[in-house]
Amino acid sequence: MLEYTPEVARATADLQERVKDVIPSVEWPVMAPLIHAINELKKAKNAVILAHNYQTPDIYHCVADFAGDSLQLAIEAGKTDADIIVQAGVHFMAETSKLLSPDKTVLIPSLEAGCSLAASITGEDVRRMKQKYPGVPVVTYVNTSADVKAESDICCTSANAVNVVEAMGVDRVILLPDEYLAKNVAALTDVEVIAWRGLCEVHERFSGEEIRQYRESTPDLVVLAHPECHPDVLAEADYAGSTSSMIRYVKEKRPARVLMVTECSMSDNVAAETPDVEFIRPCNLCPHMKSITLQNILESLQEMRYEVTIPADVAERARRAVQRMVDLGAEGRDFADGVKAAVTVESRASLGPVVGVSG
Ligand code: 13P
Ligand code: SF4
Repeated sequence: MLEYTPEVARATADLQERVKDVIPSVEWPVMAPLIHAINELKKAKNAVILAHNYQTPDIYHCVADFAGDSLQLAIEAGKTDADIIVQAGVHFMAETSKLLSPDKTVLIPSLEAGCSLAASITGEDVRRMKQKYPGVPVVTYVNTSADVKAESDICCTSANAVNVVEAMGVDRVILLPDEYLAKNVAALTDVEVIAWRGLCEVHERFSGEEIRQYRESTPDLVVLAHPECHPDVLAEADYAGSTSSMIRYVKEKRPARVLMVTECSMSDNVAAETPDVEFIRPCNLCPHMKSITLQNILESLQEMRYEVTIPADVAERARRAVQRMVDLGAEGRDFADGVKAAVTVESRASLGPVVGVSG
């Protein structure tokens, strides 16, 4: 049984100070022993915790060695000297870490940490898309399984999607599986985009009308939106970009009042570092991200579970697609308003019955 001893209080005092505005002090005696135990075990086992920006402040500020968006986490996974990577994020992020760090042990603390986008498409769906659109390059959002990445020419994230699409050097690409991201990318480029009917269950819940209501009731509101939102939402936003670009915007510009149209833990994480900014918080939680807790991070390090493995033939092809994205380097342009280019949206139903798609 872990206890809040004077030694634990002393060892975690700096961390408590960092999160004092977002974690009530009555909760600290329960969290601190777990935080202390995780940080000690990390040192003993030469492990790192890579956390996504949607993790809760106790994880993001108190046990993570590195926190970032999907692109930054992928790059960091390829660079770390640690023997063990604990992914405080969702399964596709852990798979991406394993692809870029094949010799390391990669652990995901919860088997519930999926993603509605990753679940929307299979490797077979991609093979059928390639059969329908022969020769059209496939750009795949990292929010997908290794099987889907293995069928792709290159990956992208919300931070670089426009650049990756344009770097293909063609006038038509398949961009899978997020329909709204594809439409938001198409708004910024002349490249014709063929999309897939996949959605993020968190971002699809926001509407342009909801954002207009927030603007009417809150003077001087600055609205930042993630590009997994509907194009109507981006049209209402002052800025749109990856989770880390949104955080950078708040830290640099210090708006008096801000609405981050994305998963709600983001606001708590930034609020801990920007007490002068007021956050308006519509709360849409990602249940997959929230399945990661201090308790299961500790258990994952103690019991070395749940190890992420990828069959060698799939890993080799998937790694090529991720590495090609990383090698392209740097982030891309921010997202603009409206939809300029035409987008064709395909789905399993629109592709019709399966005929002769080889694996
Ligand atoms: P970012 O790459 O912008 O962090 O987004 C990942 C994600 O899952 C958003 O829902
Ligand atoms: Fe997937 Fe959406 Fe959760 Fe991100 S927020 S992990 S895209 S379900």
